[in-house]
Amino acid sequence: MIVEERATSARVVAAGRIAAELGFGKSCIPEVGRLLGAAAASKPDGVVAESGTGSGVGTAWLHSGLGAGARLVTVERDAELARRAAGVFADDARVEVLHGDWRLLERHAPFDVFFCDGGGKRDDAERVVTLLAPGGLLIMDDFTPSSDWPPRFEGEVDALRLFYLTHPDLAATEVLTTPASSAVVATRR
Ligand SMILES: C[S@@+](CC[C@H](N)C(=O)[O-])C[C@H]1O[C@@H](n2cnc3c(N)ncnc32)[C@H](O)[C@@H]1O
Repeated sequence: MIVEERATSARVVAAGRIAAELGFGKSCIPEVGRLLGAAAASKPDGVVAESGTGSGVGTAWLHSGLGAGARLVTVERDAELARRAAGVFADDARVEVLHGDWRLLERHAPFDVFFCDGGGKRDDAERVVTLLAPGGLLIMDDFTPSSDWPPRFEGEVDALRLFYLTHPDLAATEVLTTPASSAVVATRR
Protein backbone atom coordinates (compact mmCIF):
# COMPACT_ATOMS: atom_id res chain seq x y z
CA MET A 1 0.00 0.00 0.00
CA ILE A 2 1.10 3.56 -0.67
CA VAL A 3 0.88 4.41 3.00
CA GLU A 4 3.57 1.84 3.82
CA GLU A 5 6.02 3.44 1.40
CA ARG A 6 6.07 6.80 3.13
CA ALA A 7 8.77 7.76 5.59
CA THR A 8 8.18 6.60 9.15
CA SER A 9 9.66 8.59 12.01
CA ALA A 10 12.64 7.20 13.88
CA ARG A 11 10.59 7.23 17.08
CA VAL A 12 7.88 5.06 15.53
CA VAL A 13 10.60 2.62 14.51
CA ALA A 14 12.20 2.71 17.98
CA ALA A 15 8.87 2.14 19.75
CA GLY A 16 8.07 -0.69 17.34
CA ARG A 17 11.39 -2.30 18.17
CA ILE A 18 10.58 -2.18 21.88
CA ALA A 19 7.20 -3.75 21.20
CA ALA A 20 8.93 -6.60 19.35
CA GLU A 21 11.49 -7.06 22.16
CA LEU A 22 8.76 -7.22 24.81
CA GLY A 23 6.38 -9.31 22.74
CA PHE A 24 3.80 -6.52 22.85
CA GLY A 25 1.33 -7.01 19.99
CA LYS A 26 -1.21 -4.23 20.46
CA SER A 27 0.52 -1.26 18.84
CA CYS A 28 -1.55 0.81 16.45
CA ILE A 29 -1.21 0.21 12.73
CA PRO A 30 0.41 2.84 10.44
CA GLU A 31 -2.97 3.80 8.96
CA VAL A 32 -4.16 4.79 12.43
CA GLY A 33 -0.78 6.34 13.16
CA ARG A 34 -1.09 8.74 10.24
CA LEU A 35 -4.52 9.75 11.48
CA LEU A 36 -2.98 10.45 14.89
CA GLY A 37 -0.22 12.56 13.36
CA ALA A 38 -2.75 14.57 11.36
CA ALA A 39 -4.92 15.11 14.45
CA ALA A 40 -1.98 16.29 16.56
CA ALA A 41 -0.85 18.67 13.82
CA SER A 42 -4.30 20.28 13.76
CA LYS A 43 -3.76 21.62 17.31
CA PRO A 44 -0.27 23.18 17.20
CA ASP A 45 -0.54 24.65 20.71
CA GLY A 46 -2.79 21.98 22.12
CA VAL A 47 -2.80 19.36 24.84
CA VAL A 48 -2.56 15.94 23.20
CA ALA A 49 -3.37 12.91 25.36
CA GLU A 50 -3.25 9.16 25.00
CA SER A 51 -4.56 6.48 27.33
CA GLY A 52 -2.62 3.24 26.96
CA THR A 53 0.92 4.05 25.81
CA GLY A 54 1.91 0.48 25.09
CA SER A 55 5.51 0.64 23.87
CA GLY A 56 4.99 4.14 22.48
CA VAL A 57 4.07 3.51 18.83
CA GLY A 58 0.86 5.56 18.94
CA THR A 59 2.66 8.16 21.04
CA ALA A 60 5.36 8.41 18.38
CA TRP A 61 2.75 8.93 15.67
CA LEU A 62 1.09 11.64 17.76
CA HIS A 63 4.54 13.13 18.27
CA SER A 64 5.10 13.19 14.49
CA GLY A 65 2.44 15.91 14.26
CA LEU A 66 3.16 17.67 17.55
CA GLY A 67 3.47 21.45 17.29
CA ALA A 68 6.23 23.45 18.93
CA GLY A 69 3.76 24.84 21.45
CA ALA A 70 1.90 21.61 22.11
CA ARG A 71 2.24 19.05 24.91
CA LEU A 72 1.78 15.30 24.74
CA VAL A 73 0.86 13.28 27.81
CA THR A 74 0.35 9.54 27.75
CA VAL A 75 -0.29 6.95 30.44
CA GLU A 76 0.39 3.24 30.70
CA ARG A 77 -0.42 0.92 33.59
CA ASP A 78 2.32 -1.60 32.78
CA ALA A 79 5.52 -0.38 34.45
CA GLU A 80 7.98 -1.89 31.98
CA LEU A 81 6.12 -0.63 28.93
CA ALA A 82 5.86 2.85 30.45
CA ARG A 83 9.56 2.90 31.34
CA ARG A 84 10.70 1.76 27.92
CA ALA A 85 8.30 4.07 26.07
CA ALA A 86 9.48 7.02 28.17
CA GLY A 87 12.99 6.40 26.89
CA VAL A 88 11.86 7.03 23.31
CA PHE A 89 10.84 10.59 24.22
CA ALA A 90 13.39 11.40 26.91
CA ASP A 91 14.94 14.18 24.80
CA ASP A 92 11.68 16.09 24.28
CA ALA A 93 10.31 18.12 27.21
CA ARG A 94 6.93 18.43 25.48
CA VAL A 95 6.27 14.74 26.14
CA GLU A 96 5.34 13.14 29.47
CA VAL A 97 4.92 9.39 29.86
CA LEU A 98 3.03 8.54 33.05
CA HIS A 99 2.91 5.17 34.75
CA GLY A 100 -0.41 4.22 36.30
CA ASP A 101 -4.13 4.23 35.65
CA TRP A 102 -5.56 6.28 32.78
CA ARG A 103 -7.27 8.61 35.27
CA LEU A 104 -3.85 10.17 35.91
CA LEU A 105 -4.53 12.00 32.65
CA GLU A 106 -7.37 13.98 34.19
CA ARG A 107 -5.13 16.60 35.77
CA HIS A 108 -3.90 17.52 32.26
CA ALA A 109 -7.40 17.99 30.79
CA PRO A 110 -9.06 19.50 28.83
CA PHE A 111 -7.59 17.73 25.81
CA ASP A 112 -7.41 19.11 22.30
CA VAL A 113 -6.65 15.63 20.98
CA PHE A 114 -7.38 12.42 22.89
CA PHE A 115 -6.35 9.03 21.53
CA CYS A 116 -8.31 6.86 23.95
CA ASP A 117 -6.71 3.47 23.57
CA GLY A 118 -6.30 1.91 27.01
CA GLY A 119 -8.59 2.87 29.87
CA GLY A 120 -11.65 5.05 29.60
CA LYS A 121 -13.00 3.93 26.26
CA ARG A 122 -15.11 1.15 27.78
CA ASP A 123 -15.05 1.75 31.53
CA ASP A 124 -16.03 5.45 31.66
CA ALA A 125 -17.13 6.63 28.24
CA GLU A 126 -19.01 9.64 29.58
CA ARG A 127 -15.91 10.86 31.40
CA VAL A 128 -13.89 10.50 28.20
CA VAL A 129 -16.22 12.97 26.50
CA THR A 130 -16.05 15.51 29.33
CA LEU A 131 -12.24 15.50 29.25
CA LEU A 132 -12.28 16.99 25.75
CA ALA A 133 -11.91 20.72 25.17
CA PRO A 134 -14.52 22.36 22.94
CA GLY A 135 -13.31 21.55 19.43
CA GLY A 136 -11.20 18.74 20.85
CA LEU A 137 -10.73 15.60 18.77
CA LEU A 138 -11.37 12.12 20.10
CA ILE A 139 -9.90 9.12 18.26
CA MET A 140 -10.54 5.47 19.05
CA ASP A 141 -9.39 2.63 16.83
CA ASP A 142 -9.88 -1.15 16.72
CA PHE A 143 -13.51 -1.20 15.62
CA THR A 144 -14.83 -3.65 13.05
CA PRO A 145 -16.59 -1.95 10.12
CA SER A 146 -20.33 -2.53 10.05
CA SER A 147 -22.67 -1.73 7.17
CA ASP A 148 -25.67 -1.79 9.53
CA TRP A 149 -27.21 1.04 11.50
CA PRO A 150 -27.04 0.84 14.42
CA PRO A 151 -23.57 -0.69 14.03
CA ARG A 152 -23.23 -4.34 14.97
CA PHE A 153 -20.33 -6.44 16.18
CA GLU A 154 -20.59 -10.22 16.06
CA GLY A 155 -24.34 -9.92 15.42
CA GLU A 156 -25.11 -7.67 18.41
CA VAL A 157 -25.67 -3.92 18.41
CA ASP A 158 -22.35 -2.31 19.35
CA ALA A 159 -23.58 -0.14 22.20
CA LEU A 160 -20.18 1.37 22.87
CA ARG A 161 -19.68 2.55 19.31
CA LEU A 162 -23.26 3.78 19.23
CA PHE A 163 -22.64 5.79 22.41
CA TYR A 164 -19.80 7.75 20.82
CA LEU A 165 -21.39 8.09 17.38
CA THR A 166 -24.64 9.52 18.77
CA HIS A 167 -23.44 11.45 21.83
CA PRO A 168 -25.11 14.89 21.79
CA ASP A 169 -21.87 16.66 22.74
CA LEU A 170 -19.93 15.06 19.86
CA ALA A 171 -19.93 15.45 16.10
CA ALA A 172 -18.71 11.96 15.30
CA THR A 173 -18.02 9.67 12.41
CA GLU A 174 -16.42 6.31 11.72
CA VAL A 175 -13.63 6.01 9.16
CA LEU A 176 -12.14 2.92 7.60
CA THR A 177 -8.50 2.47 8.53
CA THR A 178 -8.21 -0.77 6.52
CA PRO A 179 -10.96 -2.72 4.76
CA ALA A 180 -11.34 -4.73 7.97
CA SER A 181 -10.89 -2.09 10.67
CA SER A 182 -12.24 1.32 11.54
CA ALA A 183 -11.79 4.21 13.91
CA VAL A 184 -14.24 6.60 15.52
CA VAL A 185 -13.26 10.23 15.07
CA ALA A 186 -15.28 12.80 17.00
CA THR A 187 -15.12 16.50 17.78
CA ARG A 188 -16.52 17.94 20.99
CA ARG A 189 -19.13 20.62 20.27
C1 LIG B 1 -4.07 -1.11 22.55
S1 LIG B 1 -2.74 -1.01 23.68
C2 LIG B 1 -2.04 0.58 23.39
C3 LIG B 1 -1.34 0.76 22.08
C4 LIG B 1 -0.76 2.12 21.87
N1 LIG B 1 -1.70 3.18 22.21
C5 LIG B 1 -0.35 2.26 20.44
O1 LIG B 1 -1.11 2.86 19.66
O2 LIG B 1 0.72 1.77 20.07
C6 LIG B 1 -3.57 -0.70 25.20
C7 LIG B 1 -2.64 -0.40 26.35
O3 LIG B 1 -3.42 0.18 27.39
C8 LIG B 1 -2.94 -0.25 28.62
N2 LIG B 1 -4.04 -0.06 29.56
C9 LIG B 1 -5.18 -0.79 29.64
N3 LIG B 1 -5.98 -0.32 30.60
C10 LIG B 1 -5.35 0.76 31.13
C11 LIG B 1 -5.67 1.67 32.17
N4 LIG B 1 -6.82 1.57 32.85
N5 LIG B 1 -4.80 2.64 32.47
C12 LIG B 1 -3.63 2.75 31.79
N6 LIG B 1 -3.26 1.90 30.79
C13 LIG B 1 -4.11 0.92 30.47
C14 LIG B 1 -2.52 -1.68 28.37
O4 LIG B 1 -1.56 -2.10 29.33
C15 LIG B 1 -1.97 -1.61 26.96
O5 LIG B 1 -0.58 -1.41 26.97
